[in-house]
Amino acid sequence: MNFSNALIVWYLQNKRDLPWRNTLNPYLIWLSEIILQQTRVAQGLPYFLCFAERFPTVFDLANADEEEVLKLWQGLGYYSRARNLHKTAKIIVFDLNGKFPKNYNELLKLKGVGEYTAAAIASFAYNENVPVVDGNVFRVLARYFDIETDIASSNAKKEFRALASKLLPNGKANQFNQAIMEFGALQCVPKNPNCEICVLNNSCLALKNKKVTQLPVKLKKTKIQKRVFNYLIFRDEDKNTLLQKRTQKGIWHNLYEFPLIETFEDINDFETLELIQNQSFIVNEIQNIRLINPVKITHKLSHQHLSVSFWEVSVAGKIKDGIDCDSVLKFPFPIVIYNFISKIWE
Ligand code: ADE
Repeated sequence: MNFSNALIVWYLQNKRDLPWRNTLNPYLIWLSEIILQQTRVAQGLPYFLCFAERFPTVFDLANADEEEVLKLWQGLGYYSRARNLHKTAKIIVFDLNGKFPKNYNELLKLKGVGEYTAAAIASFAYNENVPVVDGNVFRVLARYFDIETDIASSNAKKEFRALASKLLPNGKANQFNQAIMEFGALQCVPKNPNCEICVLNNSCLALKNKKVTQLPVKLKKTKIQKRVFNYLIFRDEDKNTLLQKRTQKGIWHNLYEFPLIETFEDINDFETLELIQNQSFIVNEIQNIRLINPVKITHKLSHQHLSVSFWEVSVAGKIKDGIDCDSVLKFPFPIVIYNFISKIWE
């Protein structure tokens, strides 16, 4: 039996009896999905029953006071979900004549309804052929097909949605989507899944390749570090300047640059002058200092965003180990420096 049919057969035998599965009413399905966002089924279930009893239709919800809605929501957290639910109920009743949007694309236009929720309502209520992709679906597909794509990456949703879409048996979106989510919630669980009893254990690639514990891959978002680089382009009476080689490990290892003062924030000319005088780049007297690029240059690296300023610093006499400005461009530079000096020295 193929993956999709095996999942559906498993689902019909193992599914939990949950109230939102016994209805095709889009309002009740929407209500359940909003409640279940960031909430476990066991915690969300009593809230769903309570809301469905007090507000059995979208009209009842739209006509309620926000305070009452928030009171019933109390304890679920993320109160913006409740406010959006209430606002959207009003829009459906007062702007859409009480008619719930009838397909995925129309559902997506509702406030607080993203791709997942629109797909859940469209498939559960209308059996529209759209796949749902939530955390459970990522896990089941990543393991079964041994997919190493980082599920936190920007392209993951597209890739997994395309795969789920291919697997979705035409006309069975309701069952298939419920099945894959339920399979992730009950069988293919994040920690210590019992693969011995799994109905897919003959064909699961993660199991075959001993990668169940490694999949899905979810990389931590690396924090982008903001750095401020102030480059000093010294100029002496012979029009010579000073270069340094970056010998430390890390960005631009072994490339050349002008003497650098790194600061936490952008600095003005007085602060720059003071910082130069505290360093030992040169012994010459400083005659003038000028910011060459009043508009900061932003340079984005994978984990760092640089804000770069170039200061022209005119000095008296000759700089020790100075380099003729005309030969500067022959050195290997980080591209942000090269682009700048090739423009001003062209
Ligand atoms: N979590 C989110 N939606 C769900 C659903 N329809 N059934 C079970 N768990 C869910």
